Amino acid sequence: MANVLVIKGSARKESTGSKATTWVVDTLKKVAPTATTEVIDLATFSLPLDAEPYIPAQQKYVSENTKVFAAAVSAADAVVFVTPEYNGSYPAALKNAIDHLFNEWNGKKALIVAYSPSGATSVVPVLETLLTRLSMNVVDKVALSTYPLGYEVETGLTAEFHRVAETETQAQLETALKAVVA
Ligand SMILES: Cc1cc2nc3c(=O)[nH]c(=O)nc-3n(C[C@H](O)[C@H](O)[C@H](O)COP(=O)(O)O)c2cc1C
Repeated sequence: MANVLVIKGSARKESTGSKATTWVVDTLKKVAPTATTEVIDLATFSLPLDAEPYIPAQQKYVSENTKVFAAAVSAADAVVFVTPEYNGSYPAALKNAIDHLFNEWNGKKALIVAYSPSGATSVVPVLETLLTRLSMNVVDKVALSTYPLGYEVETGLTAEFHRVAETETQAQLETALKAVVA
């Protein structure tokens, strides 16, 4: 039985990422009902920039949340990164979370699920480069354009996220998640 950790990379509390994460978790339950799933939401899980005095490779973590985060990544068979595209890249909060650890990522399966109104095509290769540098095994990437799902320029949010189920991206995510838990 696979243990999958889903990291919501947007730290915005009113976030399209919440809807994207629910979509990923619900699809995982559909394609792999026996898999266990844990979600870490970087909007609510605090990982301060200045909490750790030692370099991550030493694994001498000081803060309780870093220890919890390290244990969650260590226990996972695979990590799904659910990320928006910000200025052609990933959010600073996600980079900060990744930078809290080092050895825990090594050799772990990873799936990138990226979304943005323009289709998230820029963030995917940037995040893949980072994860590969950490010796993660990036098994697949899914890039979703939120514009057809009712992206609202005023709020930066996506209204009708359930409509993703009608797009070809649904099938891409199902294939990717099957590879993640295989
Ligand atoms: C700081 C910032 C930078 C952004 N840069 C891009 C971008 O480069 N390309 C793009 O398509 N959308 C961009 N957007 C739009 C976001 O991808 C979109 O609003 C997304 O739904 C935000 O996800 P979130 O609500 O989970 O944070 C940006 C939004 C923000 C807040």
